[in-house]
Amino acid sequence: MCMRRLALAGALALTTVAYAADLGRELPHTPLGKPLTAANVPTIWPDGRGLPAGQGGVVAGERLYAERCQSCHGERGTGGSGGHLAGRSALAGPNPDRTVANYWPYAATVFDYIRRAMPPAAPWSLTADETYALTAYVLHLGGVVPADAVLDARSLVAVRMPNRDGFVPSSEAREAGVR
Ligand code: HEC
Repeated sequence: MCMRRLALAGALALTTVAYAADLGRELPHTPLGKPLTAANVPTIWPDGRGLPAGQGGVVAGERLYAERCQSCHGERGTGGSGGHLAGRSALAGPNPDRTVANYWPYAATVFDYIRRAMPPAAPWSLTADETYALTAYVLHLGGVVPADAVLDARSLVAVRMPNRDGFVPSSEAREAGVR
């Protein structure tokens, strides 16, 4: 039951709803430098389809995080108005801790979420390299990748999220061929 709720929230809300929230307005930046519209908004799939070229690591991510993320997510992701990102905890009980390591089944969609939604005042403002770096740092805060990790499209997809098997694909995800 609890896992099922996580599945719906993880696979659906964070991908589909975040996507839906982008529709209907023009977004300022795209990899091609053109305004984003509902027709051309790029989506990254759990299997890595749609990931841009580029790379970034934990060390660069830590610096960017201090400048653009820490005000809401706290020092080393320990919490604030944006919620805490760091750590990993037990999933038993009705309200499992919504850390990134607990709550995200795929690393590629963490990248997608950060790029399209963070920081909230400037979605799509991060370059591909910056987003790889921030994703690496956030994953490191959850103990998912080591302190010297540098991620690109290939290595990001190879990252296995610790609670990957705690999710059940939604019917939409199954129809889209995500396993
Ligand atoms: C102005 C405050 C603010 C700033 C700055 C900000 N965030 Fe957030 N962030 C939020 C809020 C609020 C949420 C929760 C959104 C929701 O649940 O709909 C969130 C959610 C997230 C999540 C998902 C957490 C989860 O487990 O579901 C990630 C990852 C994240 N932010 C990363 C970042 C990164 C990386 C940056 C810097 C580029 C950043 N945020 C900057 C407010 C902020």
